[in-house]
Amino acid sequence: MERRVVITGACGQLGRALNQVLKEKEDIAVINTDMEPTAYCPIILDITNSVAVMNLVQEIKPEIIINCAAHTAVDLCESDQERAYMINAIGPKNLAMAADAMDAKLVHISTDYVFDGEADAPYTEDAVTNPKSVYGSTKLAGEEYVKSLCEKYYIVRTAWLYGDGKNFVKTMLGLAEKNTEIRVVSDQYGSPTSAMELARAVAFIMDMEEYGIYHATCEGIAAWYEFAVEIFQMAGKTVTVKPITTEEYKTPAKRPQYSVLENRKLKEAGYRIKDWKEALKEYMDTIAEA
Ligand SMILES: NC(=O)c1ccc[n+]([C@@H]2O[C@H](COP(=O)([O-])OP(=O)(O)OC[C@H]3O[C@@H](n4cnc5c(N)ncnc54)[C@H](OP(=O)(O)O)[C@@H]3O)[C@@H](O)[C@H]2O)c1
Repeated sequence: MERRVVITGACGQLGRALNQVLKEKEDIAVINTDMEPTAYCPIILDITNSVAVMNLVQEIKPEIIINCAAHTAVDLCESDQERAYMINAIGPKNLAMAADAMDAKLVHISTDYVFDGEADAPYTEDAVTNPKSVYGSTKLAGEEYVKSLCEKYYIVRTAWLYGDGKNFVKTMLGLAEKNTEIRVVSDQYGSPTSAMELARAVAFIMDMEEYGIYHATCEGIAAWYEFAVEIFQMAGKTVTVKPITTEEYKTPAKRPQYSVLENRKLKEAGYRIKDWKEALKEYMDTIAEA
């Protein structure tokens, strides 16, 4: 029998990558939803609208809902707290209630920003959360709703995501068109993660027997500076990359200094996500072909 999978925020980076990964699975039918209708994603679903969410889930009766919708503009969230809470917390709440009512599984994507970034070793799934930004605290509130309102849930925390959309890789390549020297923060650490690698991990997690929280980032650690250097090297760009401190690069939202997640539960299940440089190479080859 066909397994119906509803994707929310399907036009975003992860939503698009998931479409590529799930189309390889013959038993799966994907139903894409987002705020604006497009040929690729004809169904409008605003996840902050509880009635619309319940109606759609009751009509489609999916086996799985994958929530890729979020207010991901971290700095904007600081000045737009109400909207951030609606999308990042109330949205998942609505989805959790609808999933539970229809006995569907909910895969909810979350973030490294639920942690304070003050650790000196990778955060495991059970590490204590302590968000320092509006984005992080609204995403954590979303996690809490999912955990308390839905029985069959997977919360998948990821970080430093890039795919088909606005992201660090494209920003760096854009800057290289107009500048010979680029300043990049060298004292914040994380794991650059390609949307394709995350989508592959999500496709694995959604069939796992154990519900709960999972971490899913590419393997390895880099500072934004090292990430930028690697991007330019792979793209064959001759740009001088100058390391700067967080202090020198002020932003409205506080970023976690050490944002490395340990994919402990995925590894225990025998699933390994690619190293960040290998995944970046795959991505660079794809955008070079496009
Ligand atoms: N990007 C990162 O670096 C990063 C890092 C860690 C975790 N994550 C998490 O990973 C997930 C996927 O991120 P992404 O980078 O793929 O995000 P994205 O590219 O920003 O896509 C999010 C999508 O959700 C849509 N959306 C916004 N509000 C909505 C609403 N009320 N109802 C339905 N759809 C709505 C957006 O539409 P509009 O474009 O029209 O707003 C967009 O198409 C998110 O949960 C995010 O928090 C991302």
